[in-house]
Amino acid sequence: MSMKYYITTYGCQLNVHESEKLAGILKEEGYESADDIKDADVIIFNTCAIREGAEDRVFGNVGALKKLKKENKNKIIAVCGCMTQQKEKADKLYKMFPFVDIIFGTSNLYKFKEFLNKKTKRLLAYDEDFNLIGENMPFYRTSGDNAWVNIMQGCNNFCTYCIVPYVRGRERSRKSEDILKEIKEVVREGYKKITLLGQNVNSYGKDCGEICFSELLKKVCEIDGDFKVAFMTSHPKDLTSDVIDVIAKNDKLLKEIHLPVQSGSNKILEKMNRKYTREKYLSIIEEIKTKIPDVRITTDIIVGFPGETEEDFEQTCDLIKKVSYDGIFAFMYSIREGTIAEKMPNQVSFEEKNRRVNKILQLEKEIKKGKNNGNN
Ligand code: 5AD
Ligand code: SF4
Repeated sequence: MSMKYYITTYGCQLNVHESEKLAGILKEEGYESADDIKDADVIIFNTCAIREGAEDRVFGNVGALKKLKKENKNKIIAVCGCMTQQKEKADKLYKMFPFVDIIFGTSNLYKFKEFLNKKTKRLLAYDEDFNLIGENMPFYRTSGDNAWVNIMQGCNNFCTYCIVPYVRGRERSRKSEDILKEIKEVVREGYKKITLLGQNVNSYGKDCGEICFSELLKKVCEIDGDFKVAFMTSHPKDLTSDVIDVIAKNDKLLKEIHLPVQSGSNKILEKMNRKYTREKYLSIIEEIKTKIPDVRITTDIIVGFPGETEEDFEQTCDLIKKVSYDGIFAFMYSIREGTIAEKMPNQVSFEEKNRRVNKILQLEKEIKKGKNNGNN
């Protein structure tokens, strides 16, 4: 009987895709996927650090593995991802949970095979060098007929609330020829949807003199085959007209744009270091709607950023109504250690953040109802 693995993934699509890489390595090593965590010989938690809640869940769920390890000492338990890319968090997990065998971060994911086969008792692999992406890692794709294709890693934007630039490093684009080769392969394998992934896809190519994002999109669409293309995530400050034009003109591109606004107040946008104003954002939305009439626009909103007053929040609600989004992901601001916003005065209370998030959910419902009744 073959050995089995079970991977639990927290957070964004990039993590889902990286779990596909871990699964690819495990498959190559002869493991099979287990339906139940109890039957697994290798258990992996691929973690997220974006908000406190995500980290708390990891501490709770890893703690619960103690019993499984006690029943079978040969089980290998590994914790990796954005949370363990932070040295203090990795150290804390290592000390708190002696039954965890391997701890590593996003920067050394490509070394997982080496870690798995190491004979040392416990391993805490911490590395700040993000330069090696690990181009030739195997995949075991797990998202139905959608294939995730990573086009870039990292982020240079340093939005003041966000931990991502610290746990994913600076922007690194993959070579367009490697990306196109991978897409040709997945199209040949029969995948019907290709989702291009990156923290800030509109910056593609800027770090290494590669072609720009709109040119990459055009080349992807030139590949023969019956498939659709989506991408995430776009930063409004970098979404240029040429990208909007490619989406408008090319049938292979899905008419969907996820364009996180975060706040509708200029004061808060500035404090967030988002580098656009509400007016600029609304003008991009207008251009998108004019050029792509059947477009679906979705967004991310953070409520309760430090110093957000009722008036600032009202500005966000007003912007939401103006854009009339097709989907909203609303989050309560969560303090992240080491970010600039951590030290900002006037943190908003949990109760107030909760009220604001619920108000946005309500607004989203009303917009949806209006759309179902035939309004815009
Ligand atoms: N608190 C709450 N939400 C956050 N996001 C990023 N950092 C934080 C934070 N500290 C949200 C943003 C981003 C999405 C992926 O997560 O809205 O677009
Ligand atoms: Fe975080 Fe801002 Fe980078 Fe997005 S653009 S990953 S919110 S720092």
